[in-house]
Amino acid sequence: MVKPHDDSVAVALCRSDELQDSGKAVAFDVLYFGRPEAAFAVRYQGQVHAYLNRCSHVPMEMDYQPNEFFDTTGHWLMCATHGAMYAPHTGHCRMGPCRGGLVKISLSEVDGVVHWHTSGQFTPIKPP
Ligand code: FES
Repeated sequence: MVKPHDDSVAVALCRSDELQDSGKAVAFDVLYFGRPEAAFAVRYQGQVHAYLNRCSHVPMEMDYQPNEFFDTTGHWLMCATHGAMYAPHTGHCRMGPCRGGLVKISLSEVDGVVHWHTSGQFTPIKPP
């Protein structure tokens, strides 16, 4: 998990039970350096993680069906276009044509709610 900046704001994303281990993602939108970008959150081995929905190979969205990112093993996030594989807990490239890792977004989970955290890079589409 990325450590939030001290001045970051927690933005409610979804209920904890909407994210099942190696299951479907929850999509959300952020401003990344002021530009609207799609993002997604998943749960892997009990922990929640979020990334921009943008492959490091070619900047395309990665899901092969809406909100489906995990491969059949449930251990890798796979890009539908050319098969790049990323580690769900770090976003690092594991294999395939990726050029670096996924862009990680800080999350927290408190009292059954998952929040994403604003930073210098990430701001909400709408003010919280
Ligand atoms: S666009 Fe993702 S592997 Fe090529």
